[in-house]
Amino acid sequence: MLMARSLFPTLPLLGLVLASCTAASTIERPGTWTANEASAIAAWPERASTDQPDAAIEKRIAAIVASMTLEQKIGQMTQPEIRYITPDEVRRYYIGSILNGGGSWPGMNKHASVADWARLSKSFAQAALSTDMKDRVPLLWGTDAVHGHNNVVGATIFPHNIGLGAAHDPDLVFRIGRATAKAVRATGIDWAFAPTLAVVQSQRWGRAYESYSSDPAEVARDGAAMVRGLQGTLTGDGDVLATAKHFVGDGGTFQGVDQGDNHASARDLAMVHGAGYYTALNAGVETVMVSYSSWTEDGAVPFGKMHGDKALVTGVLKQRLHFDGLVVSDWNAIEQVPGCTIDHCPQAINAGVDMVMVPQDWKAFIANTVADVRAGTISMARIDDAVSRILRVKFRAGLFDRPASASRYLGDAAALADRPLAQEAVRKSAVLLKNDAAALPLAPGKRVLVVGDAADSFSQQAGGWSITWQGDENTNADFTTGETLLTGIRRVYGAQNVVYSPDGAAIGQGHFDAVIAVLGEEPHAEIKGDVRYPALLSQSVRYPADRVLLDRVSGHGIPVVTVLYSGRTLYATDLMNRSDAFVAAFLPGSEAGSLADLMAARGGADFTARLSFAWPNTPCPSGGVKPDEELFARGFGLSYASTSPHTGKLAEAPALDRCP
Ligand code: BGC
Ligand code: BGC
Repeated sequence: MLMARSLFPTLPLLGLVLASCTAASTIERPGTWTANEASAIAAWPERASTDQPDAAIEKRIAAIVASMTLEQKIGQMTQPEIRYITPDEVRRYYIGSILNGGGSWPGMNKHASVADWARLSKSFAQAALSTDMKDRVPLLWGTDAVHGHNNVVGATIFPHNIGLGAAHDPDLVFRIGRATAKAVRATGIDWAFAPTLAVVQSQRWGRAYESYSSDPAEVARDGAAMVRGLQGTLTGDGDVLATAKHFVGDGGTFQGVDQGDNHASARDLAMVHGAGYYTALNAGVETVMVSYSSWTEDGAVPFGKMHGDKALVTGVLKQRLHFDGLVVSDWNAIEQVPGCTIDHCPQAINAGVDMVMVPQDWKAFIANTVADVRAGTISMARIDDAVSRILRVKFRAGLFDRPASASRYLGDAAALADRPLAQEAVRKSAVLLKNDAAALPLAPGKRVLVVGDAADSFSQQAGGWSITWQGDENTNADFTTGETLLTGIRRVYGAQNVVYSPDGAAIGQGHFDAVIAVLGEEPHAEIKGDVRYPALLSQSVRYPADRVLLDRVSGHGIPVVTVLYSGRTLYATDLMNRSDAFVAAFLPGSEAGSLADLMAARGGADFTARLSFAWPNTPCPSGGVKPDEELFARGFGLSYASTSPHTGKLAEAPALDRCP
């Protein structure tokens, strides 16, 4: 595999000279940091960077920057959202990048075709190349391709990261990155806002599923594999820029509150939450997105919102870790920095943010930032550094040599889908937690009663960030590729052997060899997905119908196999006690039907996934799930040949209304 940096051969001598120049100009002089900041920075081991700036490229960057007006520079640093900007405005304002947010499509048509996407990206790209700048600068388009190219109808939706972490297979993650990048390029887009490197501690967080694992080493491995998969050689037809996000500490907020406050020690911030950044940078990741969260060292020393934190963004990321790509802010995140508003935040730029995601209020942002530079609130040196980083990334992505649309995949609907790869990922990411009396495997040909609405719900198997932002407001008809689990069960067992009774009413009607109950959380993403303390983190408390359903179908002498779709590990002991076998399938995506192959052991398929987060025995787990709160430790998972450590009834937690 080629490393991004090694693609640009450098003249060794010139390279060295330049390297020392870059280092001298970006490393702050002593005295810049307070004592607290200095010790927080020192907690991060310096990354031994072997990156060499490419002398020829650096020279071109310097010449372009020297020829740019202030308005052109600020335009490059601005990232509006496609709903709020036209191609002609991209031209007039010298915009450097656009994004489409979750659930935003060309013309706000959910069913936009790959050709519609390609057409829109072409017109934006051409507009950027039609400015009156001396040197025309190509545009970047970023998108949340976080489990496949998930905003695009017809694209394969891969399992969310929590399931990929359970697969313990970085090569699989790499291949999913390759497939995703190809799909993104089919729409003319060149930048994926992935991977998330959060090392999630509390399963209350609505984004828990975006995390590969609570183990920093696993996040570091899978995150780097995704970077390599997405970026490839950076300049190939099926390569896109990746984003290491969200820097840093997003997964460790107090009580798992979205955009909340992380109370870690300086050491844990670096070694736990920062682990993925070392490997992602070593894999050549070109962009980093800042976290909405804030950090209060040891819960005592406030560093504030990451977007205003120069010690972390510049002192750590750009200096200690020698990151020379671009830092992008998160969606409207600047407004959360004290003293800032939605369209004005010199603090963030001075902290080290190079490109600002201002989806809607970008015109005012440009005017305000131009005024800041004129007033000396932001130095021209800082602006030039930001623009140089943006140009550097565009050079490395090859955009100065050819437009993003110059890909053999452009407009190719076939490039959106990779069903066999997603099917493999589904089989490798479901964890078997219970299998009493060898309820599984269930041989093809058996008569099966399938219950639970989730059995025939693409929305529930795909979770958040699926066609829409929260993954809600979709119907099965919106998913034009893939299989629901019900469809997979009919395929494997034969339609004539399968009765589907969503509410289980058919249990007394006819002979069944087994019941397959499919339960799940409703799809959710950031903000809405949080289960806020003191609410109970319990599937049946949040979805009481699931327990009613299992009460109806259990106790009839017919084995009950339960499959749970969830974006996190959560309390489900009562549901396990009403099941003979229990499968934690997490959020398998568009190919959940492959779970049927696994449950039937088709072609020798067996459960190989192992939990990447501990599974709680209480609806009130503390962040991180303490050992005495574990029903199953991280790493647990059965195969067909293994014997369950618990058989029969598991101890249930006392019924509570809320956590103490
Ligand atoms: C999320 C990011 C995402 C961005 C763009 C934010 O709200 O935190 O993960 O990349 O929106 O959609
Ligand atoms: C956008 C998302 C974004 C979110 C942030 C939504 O409207 O579509 O991409 O992450 O807002 O709050």
